[in-house]
Amino acid sequence: MSTILITGANRGIGLELARQYTEAGDRVFATCRAPAEARDLTLLAGGAGGRLTVHAMDVGDAASIAACAKAVGDTPIDVLINNAGILGGKSQTLESIDFDAWIDAFKVMTIGPFRTVQAFLPNLKAAPAAKVMTVTSQLAASTWPFGGSYAYSSAKAAVNKVMQTLAKDLKTQNIAVSMIHPGWVKTEMGGAGADITAEESATGIRGVITGLTSDTSGKFYKWNGEIHPW
Ligand SMILES: NC(=O)c1ccc[n+]([C@@H]2O[C@H](COP(=O)([O-])OP(=O)(O)OC[C@H]3O[C@@H](n4cnc5c(N)ncnc54)[C@H](OP(=O)(O)O)[C@@H]3O)[C@@H](O)[C@H]2O)c1
Repeated sequence: MSTILITGANRGIGLELARQYTEAGDRVFATCRAPAEARDLTLLAGGAGGRLTVHAMDVGDAASIAACAKAVGDTPIDVLINNAGILGGKSQTLESIDFDAWIDAFKVMTIGPFRTVQAFLPNLKAAPAAKVMTVTSQLAASTWPFGGSYAYSSAKAAVNKVMQTLAKDLKTQNIAVSMIHPGWVKTEMGGAGADITAEESATGIRGVITGLTSDTSGKFYKWNGEIHPW
């Protein structure tokens, strides 16, 4: 049994990861912004026999991350998944961009994952060979040019660099850090016309996490296990 902490676990890919890890017999700390509104997660917790607990954590808010770390206490964490994400504004074109939403994209998708790793570092260090996986996007890659989406693409590109740097800094502590493109997934963010289901994506992400070692730390993966050029 491993202990897993997931951000943005109330819907989409995060919820499916929580479901799959729970079904596999793992202990899951499922975090989300508003536990009282997280009905699917509450249902999942109800049938998990105490192996899944729901915790409030807004990854855009330092105090909220610190409070969640306090609630989790000194439990060793084997796998931390930075999954929470936002689009970063409805309009992200050269002509029309919401700069406040751009800053929020960085708070949630770049600084948030860093802060989360920082807050849970004692828990990661307490596990024998901890892993951090950050769900980014193919839009992070310089090899995948895409017009518009300035806020989203730049926040994801930046978190890739942050995670690569963390991989280097945490290597001596036997903590592996990687990034993953989850596929184009049928969620609220991906839309109904996307390529794969959240179940397929989460299954792939879990497989990549299982294979992650300190030798492969710092790499950017696709959900199907291929290396993503970036
Ligand atoms: N779907 C795709 O095709 C696709 C493609 C590439 C990358 N991704 C990435 O995959 C990850 C999961 O996306 P998804 O498709 O599952 O999207 P989703 O269904 O829109 O879910 C996003 C999740 O992030 C949470 N979240 C947003 N802001 C947060 C905050 N400040 N603190 C904590 N949680 C927050 C949301 O919670 P609330 O309910 O509170 O808003 C929700 O649980 C994201 O990082 C996304 O960028 C998705």
